[in-house]
Amino acid sequence: MSSKIPVIDFSLFTDGDAAGRRAVAKSITAAFAAHGFVRLINHPVSSSTVSQAFRQSKLFFDLPISSKSRAPNPPDSKVNRGFSYPSPEKVSNLAATANGSNGVNGADESSKEPAQRVPDAKETYDIGSEHNAEQPNVWPPPNLVPGFRGFMTGFYWTLAGFSRELLRALALGINLEEDHFLEFYSAQDNQLRLLHYPEIEAAKLEEGRAVRVAAHRDWSAFTILFQDDCGGFEIESPTEPGKFVPVEPIEDSCLVNIGDLMARWSNDTLMSTSHRVGIPPLLQNRCAGDKRTTQSRHSIGYFVSPMPDTVIKCLPTCYDAEHPAKYAPVTQREYNVSKASMQC
Ligand SMILES: [Fe+2]
Repeated sequence: MSSKIPVIDFSLFTDGDAAGRRAVAKSITAAFAAHGFVRLINHPVSSSTVSQAFRQSKLFFDLPISSKSRAPNPPDSKVNRGFSYPSPEKVSNLAATANGSNGVNGADESSKEPAQRVPDAKETYDIGSEHNAEQPNVWPPPNLVPGFRGFMTGFYWTLAGFSRELLRALALGINLEEDHFLEFYSAQDNQLRLLHYPEIEAAKLEEGRAVRVAAHRDWSAFTILFQDDCGGFEIESPTEPGKFVPVEPIEDSCLVNIGDLMARWSNDTLMSTSHRVGIPPLLQNRCAGDKRTTQSRHSIGYFVSPMPDTVIKCLPTCYDAEHPAKYAPVTQREYNVSKASMQC
């Protein structure tokens, strides 16, 4: 069974008239309310740009570990930039339970066990705005992957522009002024993450001796996700907690999912849904040999956050007398600190 995530033509928003934009926005927020995810086609990031991003990402991850490690994610630091492998993260700290807390402190602490004991079988490379002094980028030497820095810097801002359109759609969809979120958004606090999941024996995933990414919710406002054709991405069923259903790759589409911050901001009007990367379909062309070694997988995530001083206080259209605000106001900075370093 595959996920029933709605597929929406985003060009009807970017190119539509006022009524059309509102209708598409409503469809998108309805998908977020029901699934936490939407799949967009005809979005503003061209197929050639996405392909180039995957090519550059693959060129980097195909380097020997000694070369990739010349752009290391700083150890014992609050800076989350550069290359990490094997992931030092505790993404499973945020593994969601069906009724997981969305609080500032100790979110989802109940789900630390036992997935945390199994390392994520992935490697990552994180990129931020070149103007974010608190999170300086860590680049590989230019000769390792020619053009990498220039392309990725441009790609970051291409996705920032897409994100701005998505923020307009979100606002319209929940009956706010179209520009409501833009005063909180400079795009300096987003994070572009390249991910590579190396080939792995299927049995290791099946028997729980390794995971590609354990179940978790994102903590940003929302995430844009591009994935290759490997498969293995799964989301928790909104109607059957604990059951994960595959989200098959579709060429030239992207997924967008709500993170915990936007769920909190919207008083859970928009849902943050648990997701994971599991074993891909063991099709003949995707695994090989007696050990059923799966093919490697690449994906690219773009995590969108408002500015650090933004007060995440229940949005005015998301509460009333019968549905009071659930969460105390908190700044994005405070929220960010509480969630620390867990994304995929
Ligand atoms: Fe995620």
